[in-house]
Amino acid sequence: MTVVGPFGLSVLDHALEADVQIGIAAVEQALCEATKSDVPFITVTAQHLKDAGGKRLRPLLVLLAAQFGDPNAPGVIPSAVVVELTHLATLYHDDVMDEAAMRRGAPSANARWDNSVAILTGDFLFSRASKILADLGPEAVRLQADAFERLVTGQILETAGPRPEDDPVQHYLDVISGKTGSLIAVAGHLGALTAGADRWVVEIVTQYGERIGSAFQIADDLLDITSDSHESGKTPGTDLREGVPTLPVLLLHASAPDPSVPGDLRLRELLGQGFPADDPTADRRHAEALALFRAHPALAEAREATLRYAEEARALLAPLPDCPAKSALEGLCDAVALRTM
Ligand code: IPE
Ligand code: IPE
Ligand code: MG
Ligand code: MG
Repeated sequence: MTVVGPFGLSVLDHALEADVQIGIAAVEQALCEATKSDVPFITVTAQHLKDAGGKRLRPLLVLLAAQFGDPNAPGVIPSAVVVELTHLATLYHDDVMDEAAMRRGAPSANARWDNSVAILTGDFLFSRASKILADLGPEAVRLQADAFERLVTGQILETAGPRPEDDPVQHYLDVISGKTGSLIAVAGHLGALTAGADRWVVEIVTQYGERIGSAFQIADDLLDITSDSHESGKTPGTDLREGVPTLPVLLLHASAPDPSVPGDLRLRELLGQGFPADDPTADRRHAEALALFRAHPALAEAREATLRYAEEARALLAPLPDCPAKSALEGLCDAVALRTM
C-alpha cells in the first residue's frame, strides 16, 4: 500500500499509483509554465502560492475521475491545471477578503505585497486558466463558467450573510456548496468528461465532488479551531477573529445557552464581544475562545456534519464498476473528513 496525495490517501494498486504520480508531475510542470509572465515581477507573485505548497486535491480528483475513461486522453492534464489555477486565483482573492496573513505556510500575497498585487495576481491566474480552458472546447468552458459563478456567488453570500428570513445553517450550507463544492465538482466532471467516460459516470463523479467539497469545507472550518499553524499552513482562528460564521459557530448560536456545558456561557460572551484589532485584550480573549471551542459540543456536532457529507459522497459511488480508482475515491471520503491539514 502506498500513500499518494494530500491526506495520506491510500492507493492499493501500483498501476494507479504510478499513473497518479506521473499525472501530478505533469500538472506541476504545466502549472510552472502557466504561471510565467514576460514581466518578472508577475512571475514572482503568480508563482508565490504555487511554490508555497498546497495539497493539490483538485488535480488529484481530476486524475482519479479520468480513470473511468482514457486517463491518457489529451484534455486530462490541462483540466487538472485549469482547476488548480482557478483554485489558486480564488485563494489570492480570498485572503484579501479574509485579511489572512498566512497561506500554505507562507505569507499571503496581500501580506507579502498588498491587496492590489494579490487581486491582480488572482486575475492573472484566471486569465491563464481561461486560455487553457479554451482548448478544451465549449462544454468545458461553460461548465467552468457555471461553477465559477456559483463559487463567486457563495463568496458574496458569505460576505452578505443570511437575510432575516433565512435559516443561518441552511444559508451556510448553500454558501459552502457554492464557494467550495462547485470547483471540486468541476474537478470530477472535467476529469471524467475529458477522459471520455460514460455520461452516467460523469454525473456520479460530479455529484461526488460536490459532496466531498462540502465535507472538505466543513473540515476546513473545524481546522480553523482545532489545528495549529504548523499543520494547516494558515493562522489558526482566522475565521473566528474575522467573525466568519463557520458551522461550529452557527451551531453554537443555534443551541440554547447551557450553563451545564463547561465554558459555554463564557464562549458566547467572548464571541459576542468580538476581537477588534485595536482592543489590547483581543489576543488573550481570542486564545481563550479557541481553547473553549475545542472542548465544546458544537464542534463535535459540526464534525458529524462533515462525516455525513463524506458518507453521502461514498454512497454515490456504489453504481461505479469496482476498480482501484473507485477504491481510491472511497478512501478520499475518509481522508477528507478526517483531515488534519
Ligand atoms: C482551501 O483549499 C480553501 C478551501 C476551499 C477550504 P485547500 O485546503 O484545498 O487549499 P490548498 O490548495 O491545499 O492550499
Ligand atoms: C475558501 O474559503 C473558499 C474559496 C477560496 C473560494 P475560506 O476562506 O473558508 O478558506 P480558507 O480557510 O481561507 O482556506
Ligand atoms: Mg479564507
Ligand atoms: Mg473566505
